[in-house]
Amino acid sequence: MIDSSTNLYALIGNPVSGSKSPWIHNHIFETCHLPGAYLAFDIEKDQLSQAVVGMKALNVKGINVTIPYKTEIMTFLDEVDPLAEKLGAVNTIVCKDGKWKGFNTDGLGLIAVLKRHIADFEEKKVLVLGAGGAARGICGILAESKIAEMGIWNRTPERAIQLSEALNLSKSENGHFDITPVSSVKAFINYDVVINTTSVGMAPDIEQTPVEITSLNPDAIVCDIVYKPHKTKLISEALSNGHNVIYGIEMLLEQALLAQKLWNGLTDEVISKNRNELMTEFEALNK
Ligand code: ATR
Repeated sequence: MIDSSTNLYALIGNPVSGSKSPWIHNHIFETCHLPGAYLAFDIEKDQLSQAVVGMKALNVKGINVTIPYKTEIMTFLDEVDPLAEKLGAVNTIVCKDGKWKGFNTDGLGLIAVLKRHIADFEEKKVLVLGAGGAARGICGILAESKIAEMGIWNRTPERAIQLSEALNLSKSENGHFDITPVSSVKAFINYDVVINTTSVGMAPDIEQTPVEITSLNPDAIVCDIVYKPHKTKLISEALSNGHNVIYGIEMLLEQALLAQKLWNGLTDEVISKNRNELMTEFEALNK
């Protein structure tokens, strides 16, 4: 129940319409009996600094940041977690005693989902489809993880080359593996895990896939970060061809659950219960 002691949590971005975050977070507040309410705000480009002043004055307790402000918001923070600093993007802010600290739970959410689904994840060769903004964050976190190899394929090959070069610079510090731009679909067969980070398959282009499913290794695990529709054409074709799949909603849910862990210190048990409930409800709504 919302009353005078309810804390405000917010999503800021543009556009935010259609975001599933209010549904996820308000479910958690309700089931965990936490005094919170989560609202989504479309912020115009020239209004970001005013929005920050307003949220500070209103004592907002937690903020999620989405496109296009994940990098720009960093200039308004008192502190940035080292991983978010490295990725150059913040998606979660913890507001405590007037101080704002930024984190990035997108990447950690993705890794948590991949590790939960894939045994011996660190031995896998991962192919990322796409080289845009979403790919940058995902490749960035994969480059921080222990995996066997990472390839980046993109419709416009130059962008895959640029991204792999950019990431290899920071990678040389750890030097676990090479990040290779993949120019030929023939090379797809070498990868154990394939992650679609392109917008292909998203409404209204729901009849498209970023790649021919038959070009992938028949044993490859296929993940799609697109969650609208729930079962994208890529996921559908992968299932028909016997691949194990990971749905986009799982990655969205995970980053939200990690944000709640930062804001309200939820235990793993509570997180797991909410994950199961939200997945079941989402699947029922998106049959
Ligand atoms: P985002 O921030 O969501 O990643 P973006 O930076 O515009 O958005 O990147 C979109 C990604 O989807 C790019 O990798 C893009 O490929 P190009 O670099 O060649 O444009 C990819 N993409 C979009 N539409 C595509 C299509 N029809 N087929 C293949 N790739 C597509």
